Amino acid sequence: QVTTPHKDIREGRMSEAIFAAALGGVVFDEKAPLDYRDPVIFLQKTYLTNGLRNLLENVVSRLNGGKGDSMIQLQTPFGGGKTHALLTLYHTIKHWKKAKHLESLSGLKEPAGAKVAIFVGTHADAVSGKTPWGEIAFQLGQYDFVKEHDKKRISPGKEVLKKVLHAAGPTLILIDELLEYIVKANRAEKLEKITHGQTLAFLQEISELVASTENCCLVTTLPASILERYDEEAEKALQQLQKVSGRVETVYTPVEGMELYEVIRKRLFEDAGDEKTRKQVAQTYFELYQKLGSDVPSETREVEYRESIERAYPFHPELIDVLYERWGSYPTFQRTRGVLRLLAEVVGDLYKRKVSSPLIQSSTVNLENPIIRREFVKHIGNEFDSVIASDIAGKNAKAPKIDRDMGSEYEKFGIARGIATSVFLYSFSGAARKETNLQRVRVALLREGIPSTIVGDAISKLEEELWYFHSERKQYSFKNQPNLIRVIADREESITEDRIRETLKDMIQKADGKVMEIYLWPEGSADIPDNKAFKLAILSPDYGPENSKKLISELLEKAGLGFRVYKNTLFLLLTDNDQYNMVSRALRRYLALKDIQTDKELLSTLTKDSQDSLRSKLKDTEKEMPFKILAAYRHLIFLGEKGIESKDLGIPTIGSSQSLSQRVKQHLIDHEKVLTRLTPKYVLDKAFGKDEEKKPFKELYDLSLKTPGMPLLDSEDVLRDAIVEGVKHGLLGIAEGPEVYYKQDITPSADSEVLRREVAKKLKEEQAEPEEKKPEEKPGEEEIEEKKREGLVTTVTLKAKIPWDKISAIISGVILPLKDKGMPPEISIELEAKSTEGFDRTTLDSKVKETLQQIGAKIEKWEES
Ligand SMILES: Nc1ncnc2c1ncn2[C@@H]1O[C@H](COP(=O)(O)OP(=O)(O)O)[C@@H](O)[C@H]1O
Ligand SMILES: [Mg+2]
Repeated sequence: QVTTPHKDIREGRMSEAIFAAALGGVVFDEKAPLDYRDPVIFLQKTYLTNGLRNLLENVVSRLNGGKGDSMIQLQTPFGGGKTHALLTLYHTIKHWKKAKHLESLSGLKEPAGAKVAIFVGTHADAVSGKTPWGEIAFQLGQYDFVKEHDKKRISPGKEVLKKVLHAAGPTLILIDELLEYIVKANRAEKLEKITHGQTLAFLQEISELVASTENCCLVTTLPASILERYDEEAEKALQQLQKVSGRVETVYTPVEGMELYEVIRKRLFEDAGDEKTRKQVAQTYFELYQKLGSDVPSETREVEYRESIERAYPFHPELIDVLYERWGSYPTFQRTRGVLRLLAEVVGDLYKRKVSSPLIQSSTVNLENPIIRREFVKHIGNEFDSVIASDIAGKNAKAPKIDRDMGSEYEKFGIARGIATSVFLYSFSGAARKETNLQRVRVALLREGIPSTIVGDAISKLEEELWYFHSERKQYSFKNQPNLIRVIADREESITEDRIRETLKDMIQKADGKVMEIYLWPEGSADIPDNKAFKLAILSPDYGPENSKKLISELLEKAGLGFRVYKNTLFLLLTDNDQYNMVSRALRRYLALKDIQTDKELLSTLTKDSQDSLRSKLKDTEKEMPFKILAAYRHLIFLGEKGIESKDLGIPTIGSSQSLSQRVKQHLIDHEKVLTRLTPKYVLDKAFGKDEEKKPFKELYDLSLKTPGMPLLDSEDVLRDAIVEGVKHGLLGIAEGPEVYYKQDITPSADSEVLRREVAKKLKEEQAEPEEKKPEEKPGEEEIEEKKREGLVTTVTLKAKIPWDKISAIISGVILPLKDKGMPPEISIELEAKSTEGFDRTTLDSKVKETLQQIGAKIEKWEES
């Protein structure tokens, strides 16, 4: 530590009063702080700004009968240094000898015998105390002139006042807080019928008089704006005061621009380090900013900025600027006074904790310290206490936690916390700007030794984890409304996988169940009945096509304890792993959004924009859920001719609004796994065994339900329609009990039997006219007979020895060409296999026989030896 704060700061005993200069206290009260009361201490802690120097020179010259403004008005915001300026005048004139060390006074002549009269509006009793004229005349020892007027509270007029001033000699009149007095007088007026106009009148008279009197000078102060706690009348009074004094005034601003830095240093530090150190530190920062180039704001790279650093030392000018410009714009903050007060606490805190840093930057401000925190929070609302505690500083705050978790530089320099703190400081202002950007954050945080790249990295961590941290178009700020993204992410963490599954189940259930019977999340075959309906079993996402072979074959083959009979009617739908992850993420988000939407208390903490955005996000996720679910359930599994078959349905077309069962059904129809139309010939070919002459209608239909690999019929009607057509055109016949129908329009009942044409024809003929035969009826076998008679080759029978490894050539070269021109050929194979080591049972039974069975071969002969 190369600087030393003043003793009271070092010892942490600063009273509120110490940063509010009180003229009244100094003049009338023995207990006012020494800082203001003792001329030597006071002047030591005073930085002679340009404004102050001009003011002093002007007043001294005027009191000496020389040139200068007779009436001066100091107008600044609260805490801008008005009273301090009056006090400087007071002490200098009153204690010329003690103030002599002030360098700039060296050329000035002491105004011999000058008197100082003071009126302090906050100190005066507006109801029964002395009036401004009474008080001033009294202090000048000339009360008798105005006694009557004082009692009657009527301004004495220029003639009387002239007498007062003449008798008093060189006089400096200081009037502070006159507005406050008028506000009080206005109140009193209603009780005592005294117009505040008298005060204004007096001000008018005295200022005119002073202007025409040598050796006299009047200095008054006015606030630059009205505090909220004043009313409309105060506003009016301020305007009137400005008008009255405006005629002769010269307005001085006591503290301007960079002077603020020096004022602060003077007021807070006994020893602000030697010039060499200051220059060196400023140079180091200057070089750092040169190196960072456009990563920092351009003004920080200019030579003047190096001078700012030197003058603000040991503070970084950035910190003072943010306090003065942003926080200072709150009327309650009181500019210079507020900055001083805050920085005194900051310095005291750093001193106590023995923190060493070349400069005190925004990021070094310790918001964990309750006094410092209070100094900020009182201007912006108590709710920010919890914002700070949640995000920025304190035991459970998220930014320090990031530092701890990250370790290394984060921990060493308190990066996340530092950035959060500086963004906080930049987030508030009585004016429009309430955010900051990366460039400024770098200035607030970086110093030699901290890697600059860490800033961007840390900001994104803050974005991810902090609740009240908002970033919009690369502008960062804290607000008392939580950041929606964070709220969502936080809520997402509390959503359990179980809840996601349940919701998924629910959504499927609600959206589905029309086209097929739906069975959700079956765990065993008993969960799915064995009936004729088309069934879609939707497996829980725990089962993917890879890890659930056992469950799949159990569901398809069995129905509880027994075997499944209607094997062909059951379809399984399984999720794809990657796609399911997307569903799960989307559902998590959806549930989080819904939770927030229904959490009225939480909802009310969000900004209106966030609430709107929440609503639309919820709508969007809800809308896209069905598609995501459709995309996830893409593996269709069922029993085929050759055992379990698996189909990847792929990604659905974007915007598809099908339900799961609709999609499956459509797929089955598209791939002729479900038929919506049949030809009578198909019925004959597929459903009738070679020697079967008739078959009950019911059995025909059931066959399609029971036989894996056989296409399903969309409904019984499909079969019925085919039979109606077949009967009409003479391909089939039906028998309803003893009645036989053939070549006529009839709809079969559920109990009818379907007959081959030959049988139907024969029965029909027997029934009608057993004696008559009609040879012109043909198709089928008879047609073949006829063609044969016409000399065509209509039948091929062959028997051949073929090489064992050329069977595939037989299929493509022999069987398919024959089938193309005729009906599927009947094929028998004769095979003799020998082995020297002997065939084992597994090969014989599980491989060979099983395969034959599976492909539906009829084993007519099987011999072993
Ligand atoms: N030139 C200065 N040198 C040192 N301290 C100053 C100077 N000007 C103002 N101050 C301090 O700033 C604070 C606010 O000034 P003050 O005179 O009380 O403001 P105002 O009267 O305008 O509300 C006080 O603590 C005061 O001592
Ligand atoms: Mg004041």
